Amino acid sequence: MNDLERYFENNNGRLIHKWMHFFEIYDRHFSRFRDREIVIMEIGVFQGGSLQMWKNYFGPKAKIIGVDINPDCKQLEEENIQIFIGSQSDRAFLRELKRQVPKVDILLDDGGHTMRQQIVSFEELFSHIKDDGVYLCEDLHTSYWLRFGGGHKRMGSFIEFSKNYIDKINAWHSEESSLKVDDFTRSAASMHYYDSILVIEKQPREKPYDRRTGSASFNLEGPNFWKENNPTKLELYKNKGKRGILFAVNKILRLFRLPSIGW
Ligand SMILES: C[S@@+](CC[C@H](N)C(=O)[O-])C[C@H]1O[C@@H](n2cnc3c(N)ncnc32)[C@H](O)[C@@H]1O
Repeated sequence: MNDLERYFENNNGRLIHKWMHFFEIYDRHFSRFRDREIVIMEIGVFQGGSLQMWKNYFGPKAKIIGVDINPDCKQLEEENIQIFIGSQSDRAFLRELKRQVPKVDILLDDGGHTMRQQIVSFEELFSHIKDDGVYLCEDLHTSYWLRFGGGHKRMGSFIEFSKNYIDKINAWHSEESSLKVDDFTRSAASMHYYDSILVIEKQPREKPYDRRTGSASFNLEGPNFWKENNPTKLELYKNKGKRGILFAVNKILRLFRLPSIGW
């Protein structure tokens, strides 16, 4: 049991509502921020219990910011806990919020969990996370619940939306103009999918490169390798032709987003 779960189990403070498997995930991605001067923003205050849990976990140097649509939440402010009232799907409110609060180390979305709320909050606030910060969106199971606008592979669900960012993280390797390096490619190091949670770890990135070290075990590149180990010239010629045709066919298949053949 980690410190967060221990706090939750012995909670004498305000009401908290969390799925039990989240505690291990929080601790895995958040523990490096403990006892540091950080800012954590949680969308979704509810009764204020989770904000108190973060205050206890991160220590006295941490500033905790809560965001909720319910004006009653404002009364839950206390030392090191500041609460802003507004909707996470209201872009004007979020833009004003960015003007009022410093960049955050951790952004945790535990708000209303509809597709639009999660998407708008991500689009508006991801850039307001520090360069080495963390984004965590929870209760992603609503992406599979019709009453929240979800559904398996349903266009517009947060899960389907987020899958596009897997492509963006790999955009350095793209050969197509439909996938280009952008701010996300340059600022996100990894995406971690769990049951009901997506975590994105930020880190400034430059074009990746590969290197080789150590000594070769087989000579794959010497001048005689192909002569000694490969089929006759005629076979090589035939294979080359086959590869050329395959390449052309696969280029056409790619246009229609159909699976490639021969690979
Ligand atoms: C799941 S509860 C938050 C639970 C809390 N974080 C905890 O762990 O105890 C969701 C909260 O999101 C708030 N909420 C719902 N829609 C919202 C919206 N559009 N913008 C901001 N907050 C919203 C609700 O008022 C509610 O307090």
